[in-house]
Amino acid sequence: MWKVATGSDHAGRRLRMQVQEWLAARGVEVVDCGVHEQESVDYPCYAAPVAQRVRAGEVAWGVLVCGSGLGMSMAANRYAGIRAALCREEHSARMARMHNDANILVLGERFTGESLAEAILDAWMAASFEGGRHARRVELMDTLPVETSKA
Ligand code: RB5
Repeated sequence: MWKVATGSDHAGRRLRMQVQEWLAARGVEVVDCGVHEQESVDYPCYAAPVAQRVRAGEVAWGVLVCGSGLGMSMAANRYAGIRAALCREEHSARMARMHNDANILVLGERFTGESLAEAILDAWMAASFEGGRHARRVELMDTLPVETSKA
């Protein structure tokens, strides 16, 4: 059985809770990393626990939701080994898994309605990494030197 971590800010809270229900209905064990209150919060603080759990191998993958999905994907992708993919339709979700071995699905509650979000989640769950030439490219993301200085 898959174990999956979920997180959102206030703007993605409703959709995150819906995603958790869909996951549970599909036999997935959910590790809920909040947010639980409705007050405005800062999305990087909720991307962090999900990214850390995925990176540590505590969960198979993660789902992050904010208003647009943009902030959550930017924040999660700061963590080494994280490949967070903002998906607005099913084909992106499929490609993110098949070619990029994405390990966090990101959704934007203010952009994606519930039925489309469920279809995106199903497309993500049905797809798997193809490996081969894609494995080399994914590995390069972690091994090519990156510029870390602001100068
Ligand atoms: C919150 O208003 C909103 O900025 C946040 O949820 C997200 O969309 C940021 O990228």
